[in-house]
Amino acid sequence: LRPEGTAGCVRAGIENGFLHNQIQRLWYAGPMFRHERPQKGRYRQFHQIGVEAFGIESADLDAELILMCMRLWRALGFDALTLQLNSLGTLECRTAYRRELVHYLETQRGKLDEDSLRRLDRNPLRILDSKNPAMQEIIAAAPNLFEHLDDASRAHFERLGDYLRQAGVVFTVNPRLVRGLDYYTRTVFEWTTDRLGAQSAVCAGGRYDGLVEQLGGKSTPAAGFAIGMERLAELLALQADSPQAVRPHGYLILLGEEAERQGLKLAESLRNAGLRIECNCGGGGLKAQLKRADRSGARHALLLGAEEARSGSITIKDLRDGSQRTLAQGEPIDLLLKETSRG
Ligand code: HAM
Repeated sequence: LRPEGTAGCVRAGIENGFLHNQIQRLWYAGPMFRHERPQKGRYRQFHQIGVEAFGIESADLDAELILMCMRLWRALGFDALTLQLNSLGTLECRTAYRRELVHYLETQRGKLDEDSLRRLDRNPLRILDSKNPAMQEIIAAAPNLFEHLDDASRAHFERLGDYLRQAGVVFTVNPRLVRGLDYYTRTVFEWTTDRLGAQSAVCAGGRYDGLVEQLGGKSTPAAGFAIGMERLAELLALQADSPQAVRPHGYLILLGEEAERQGLKLAESLRNAGLRIECNCGGGGLKAQLKRADRSGARHALLLGAEEARSGSITIKDLRDGSQRTLAQGEPIDLLLKETSRG
């Protein structure tokens, strides 16, 4: 049972020879399995959507991956995700840092909690990630990984910050962000929210320039991320009633047989123009359909009755203030709806 998709992508790439000296941009979605202590937002079977890109060493790729996430958040109407960023440097500088960190933590052994003692041998960097309030003082005084970065990693990180600022991405540098997986080099990032309780990471990823070689392939730079679908779904459900929720621009009311005949085609042409349209299906009188329009969350009802169907027009009713107007179907209905559906 795979715990994640990155290592699997690398293995598939090596086995099928599509990584070496090539640029590949891959994606996947599917169930993952981890032997974790289950709690809200953390399951033993969950689903990820992942993206992995191979063959590009420069920080523009890291920035493009982050922008890709941001585009998705925007399409889903999420406005409260925070981007945290860090650099773990190369494998060599991390190994040197790890040694120094362990040395420091050994001097604090008596004050470490049970989790940290367990991590001290296996994965001491994860101790920096501890949420235990009693550990925060020790963590704050620990040597800083950021100060141990090699010059090239530091330059990479600065370039990434520059690209992100240019593209208008807001981010926080978090030197304590170390990630649970061992393969990362240089950039690591996490998108978090304060709406999901303790399991706050909705998406996470980073660069793993050493993994292909480690798994038996030729040295190939790579970076990617994965989104937790259950957490994404939970966020969508939480914001269903908020002003940020993605709602239809219009609900298409169809009255009479001729309107029903034309309705699906009209709905499609409005969707082609970029509108979110819910089309009434299953008939019903005006009152029943208006009720459905209200329930759909759409700002407007688009009425296609016998008269409109005959004359090629459409009546648009603003469901908030009740005002309505009749337009020819060829008029820029899309602009009107997009404009007034805002907010
Ligand atoms: P990860 O941080 O282990 O990274 O997981 C990515 C996302 O999957 C998390 O941010 C979270 O939303 C979701 N997730 C993880 N574990 C669970 C769980 N037990 N229950 C529910 N959701 C969970 C990776 O898996 C890397 N492969 C990401 C990556 C791709 N890095 C480079 N490329």
